Order: sequence, then C-alpha cells, then structure tokens
Amino acid sequence: MIRSVVRGVGAETPRRIMHNNDFVNLVDTSDEWITQRTGIRQRHIASDDETTASLGEAAARKALSAAGMTPDDIDLIVLATSTPNNTFPATAVEVQHRLGMDHGFAFDMQAVCSGFVYALTTADLHIRGGMAKRALVIGSETFSRILDWTDRTTCVLFGDGAGALVLEGIEGETGAGARGIIASSLRSDGVHRDKLYVDGGPSTTGTVGKLRMEGREVFKHAVAMITDVVEDVLGRAGVTADDLDWFVPHQANKRIIDASARKLGIADEKVVITVDRHGNTSAASVPLALDAAVGDGRIKKGDLVLLEAMGGGFTWGAVLLRW
Ligand code: ACO
Repeated sequence: MIRSVVRGVGAETPRRIMHNNDFVNLVDTSDEWITQRTGIRQRHIASDDETTASLGEAAARKALSAAGMTPDDIDLIVLATSTPNNTFPATAVEVQHRLGMDHGFAFDMQAVCSGFVYALTTADLHIRGGMAKRALVIGSETFSRILDWTDRTTCVLFGDGAGALVLEGIEGETGAGARGIIASSLRSDGVHRDKLYVDGGPSTTGTVGKLRMEGREVFKHAVAMITDVVEDVLGRAGVTADDLDWFVPHQANKRIIDASARKLGIADEKVVITVDRHGNTSAASVPLALDAAVGDGRIKKGDLVLLEAMGGGFTWGAVLLRW
C-alpha cells in the first residue's frame, strides 16, 4: 500500500507587519476589542511586489530545502488559494514556472479557509492513485487585496502569507501507527454560501469584489462543523483525542479554536496557535502553523497530528497524519 508522507515544510510571510493599533486611524476599533474577540495581535500585509505566487514560491522553496529535494523531484503542485494572481491561469502554474519546472502538472484548489485541507487530501489521493510520486501542497493568500478597509467587522481579521508541504508516496505499512496521511474527511454545504463570500467575480460583476461576512453566523456553525469532521477522522483511524500529539487548527479566531479543543477533549498544551501573529490567512493558516510548530521543535517525526479547517461555502474538513 502507498502512504503519503510529509518530507518537509516551509513558510513565507510578507515583510510588512500591521499591529492592531495601526487600525485605529482607519476604522472605529481598538487593540483591546480585536485581542479579546479574536486573539489576533498582528498580521502580515503584502506590499505591491509580493503576490500569492511570489509568497507561494518562497514557501515551496523552503519546504523543498527542508525535504532535501529540488523542483526536479516534484511531479504535482496543488495550490490552495482564494486570492489567485489572475482569474486564470492557475497560480499553481505560475509557481511551477517560477520553480523552473516544465514537467508534471499543477492546479489550484478553491475551498476558501478549508483550501489547504482540501489540497492535502487531493494530493494524497493523486499519490495513492499512482498519478504522482512527490507533491508540493501550498496554501498561499493575499486576503489584504480583497478586504474592505472601511469595514471594521472584517478588515481587522485577515492577513497574508503562504505555507507549503512536500508529500512523498512510499510503499509500506498502513494503519494509525505508520507515518503519513491516515484519514481525511471533507464536507461542504452551499446553503451557507451567502454568510462568507466575495461580492464580485468574472461571471457576475466582472470585478474582483470585496470580502463580506456575517461573523456571528460563521461563529455559530464553526465548532459543530469542526468537531463533526474531526470525530469522523478519529473514528475511521481507530484513535481517540487522547492519542493525539498535536492539534493544528485553522487559525481564524482563538475563541473558535479554544471551544473546538474543549468540545473534542484536546488538552490546551497540544493546541498550536499562531492566529496572534498571522491573523486569519485562510488557506495559508494551517501550513503556517505547521511550519511554526516544526520550526520550534514541537512537532517531531512520528507524532500524531490532527489538522482541521472551516471556511466560506461553508466548507470544512480534517486530516489526521503521523508526521
Ligand atoms: N472593533 C470594534 N467593534 C467591532 C469590530 C471591531 N473591529 N467589529 C465589530 N464590532 C462591533 C459590532 O459592530 C458589534 O457592535 P454592536 O453590538 O453595536 O452592533 C459588536 O462589536 C459585537 O459584534 P459581534 O459580531 O457580535 O462580535 P463577536 O463577538 O461575534 O465577534 C467576530 C466578531 C470576531 C467576527 C466573530 O464573530 C468571529 O470570529 N466569527 C467567525 C469569523 C471567522 O472565523 N471567519 C473566518 C472563517 S474562515 C474563512 O473561510 C475566511
């Protein structure tokens, strides 16, 4: 049986950091409100020369370096984003070209904040199906470009960045004890499509549009949807929350993360939190958090790691893997 094993992780954030206090001249808000309601203290904001493709390329190069590989070793790129460089071609193809690759295949995945979990699952299926041997899975976003900077209910919440993993298919054992992706669960329900959306697009307004969100509605559904997919992957893997070494959730809001961990019975010290540094970076948030926890030595080879995300659509999903 083939298993998709993580070989390396990398991340990139824009140079410019925006602190909560930097918003007080833009909208009617305060550091205290943002910190208490969200746990966010700062976020990175892309400059004109930093794009979803450039950030994704930088994260991919770092992941390749961590894996001891070069672009020649990769035959698939799946890039999760809702803020592509262009409507088409896919930003994944732009990254492929920037990496100097003229072999293999590359495509984008659009599932908003769940994008990375969807992309990881898709890459895993391609590897296990024999379509690819080694994949770059990238989450890269420049949400600052689709924010309404006059809307205090959304502009304080998001940030820019990218993270990437190198996945490699290896022949070997399966089961929860073996390294690699053990189980995934994906869900969506378009009945919620108007609660978090961008009010523009090529086929409707012909514009890019701005992000619109009913924050309270998203919050109301988030914990139940997250626990639904997490319980599904734990059950299918035959493990319990106690067996987990690390919980790496989508970093939208510290209160959602805390409530989900509490409902699932996951101890605080196993939860990786980076929302304070990055804000909500949508599809980039899970790989940015993974990079932080691998970089500081928390996540180690052999650890049982649970990833989850929930976002616009709504979409939601979870992946259980042994690092
Ligand atoms: N500064 C100060 N006051 C604010 C701000 C702000 N930045 N934003 C909203 N307020 C005000 C509101 O206007 C409201 O005032 P009112 O009572 O006079 O009407 C008050 O604060 C409370 O607003 P709520 O929306 O009830 O605040 P809540 O506690 O729900 O927090 C938040 C808002 C942080 C958006 C929360 O609902 C949340 O995190 N929701 C989930 C959002 C999320 O995670 N989205 C990402 C999903 S992932 C994706 O796919 C992109």
